Amino acid sequence: MTAKEVQLMQQAYNEVVKYKDKVSSDPYRLDYHLMPPVGLLNDPNGLIQYKGVYHVFYQWNPFATTHGAKYWGHYSSTDMVHWRLEPIALAPREWYERNGCYSGSAVEENGLLYLFYTGNVKNEDGTRETYQCLAVSSDGIHFEKKGPVLRLPKGYNAHFRDPKVWRSNDRWYMVVGAQTHDEKGEAVLFTSTDLYNWEKVGRMAGSGLNGLGNFGYMWECPDLIHLNGKEVLLVSPQGLKPRGHLYHNLFQSGYFVGQLDYRNGKFRHGDFVELDRGFDFYAPQTFTDEKGRTVLYGWMGITDEDEQSQPTISNNWVHALTLPRKVELIGEKVYQRPLVELEKLRKNQVRHQNVKVEGKQVELAGVNGTPLELLLNSVRVGKGKFEVTLRNEAVLSYDADKQEMSLQRTNVKTKQPEIRTCKLSSLSNLQIFMDRSSIEVFINNGEEVYTARYFPAPDDLSISFKGNAIFDLTKWDLEKIKIAGGLS
Ligand code: FRU
Repeated sequence: MTAKEVQLMQQAYNEVVKYKDKVSSDPYRLDYHLMPPVGLLNDPNGLIQYKGVYHVFYQWNPFATTHGAKYWGHYSSTDMVHWRLEPIALAPREWYERNGCYSGSAVEENGLLYLFYTGNVKNEDGTRETYQCLAVSSDGIHFEKKGPVLRLPKGYNAHFRDPKVWRSNDRWYMVVGAQTHDEKGEAVLFTSTDLYNWEKVGRMAGSGLNGLGNFGYMWECPDLIHLNGKEVLLVSPQGLKPRGHLYHNLFQSGYFVGQLDYRNGKFRHGDFVELDRGFDFYAPQTFTDEKGRTVLYGWMGITDEDEQSQPTISNNWVHALTLPRKVELIGEKVYQRPLVELEKLRKNQVRHQNVKVEGKQVELAGVNGTPLELLLNSVRVGKGKFEVTLRNEAVLSYDADKQEMSLQRTNVKTKQPEIRTCKLSSLSNLQIFMDRSSIEVFINNGEEVYTARYFPAPDDLSISFKGNAIFDLTKWDLEKIKIAGGLS
């Protein structure tokens, strides 16, 4: 490690120590989600199970609750529930990453852990440079930088980033998010036999490619996953215009199901489907664990004009990762369910069988609090709407006549209500995770998901039901996760 790097890391640790008490005193600090120790967190990076240990890296600005020259923060775990805060994995110290070690991914080869990430450079004259870089580790904790392994290819401008690497048929592949010179978003495929030398295979998918119409000016964080003999391309396109109930957040994250031709890099695919119907979900990444599960984390946030109105900023931190989710393909649809390990956090179970809600608002004995998990099974919704109001701040609602699900919350900046709606032909099951300032709702065993931050009055722990429905309900309080370790 160079003296410069030691200095950069030390400055970040000083911030953690300086604001530790302030950050942890925040009533909106989450109990069972991964957050930055201080400052701003965005994308999950480098997800992997390496030598049996789970690693979650993340985009981190330790110095402010705004975006800046990103570090890679690092958590590890042996059970996907409790975590260890590890030393900083990457600090932006070299010429090729001066303005940030941007997003990327991890693979294991011959017992070594390889991190691929984007070196981001912003020049004084306003131009940008981008380098796809490599760092290698033999213990999963300390990384040696190898520098750029892929330069910007012809046809693209410097919005070229977020390498995701995987192996197929004895070769390595890398997909990179890109913007063409005429400002179209694309996912570009590269291949390598040794992880150091990369050559272009082709333009995998993008705005105006493979039968897709105009579909955004930049594609961020592509990820190709293999499920049920098909390929699923996750991507976060920027520049989609709202259409009906779709695309109302500033940026979207979703997927295409299709088939990749590894010889020419062409990905033939169906329509784009949003992965999440809520307000705060972006830049998801997956990995396959030793149990063979495809596990996804997303950033429970989004860069938009409301970001700087989040109340946690006054306590020197902002944003969090989602819960880890198991991803499956059922037909052509991606389902997401919370990892079964999270059941270890359950305590104080309360059950109500055959609850009938008939019109007016009701509360159920013992069903309130936060952090908690609510599971509604065998749901049958009668005529009209069925509503669940969470802490008088968020309302989940199913309209059986319109066959629509929606989530309403208060906009953090304007203080006005805002709503996200999706089509849902029937409602049979709802699993709701409430943390101190977040909600994740898994509908019909993961057919649709709503992810959102919300900021209710900290002492309002009420939950109420309204409309016409019958269901069985189980509620658990959820334990706070343990975060061990220091940063040195
Ligand atoms: C997505 C993103 C990535 C980039 C990173 C920078 O949120 O913009 O494209 O690598 O964040 O923090």
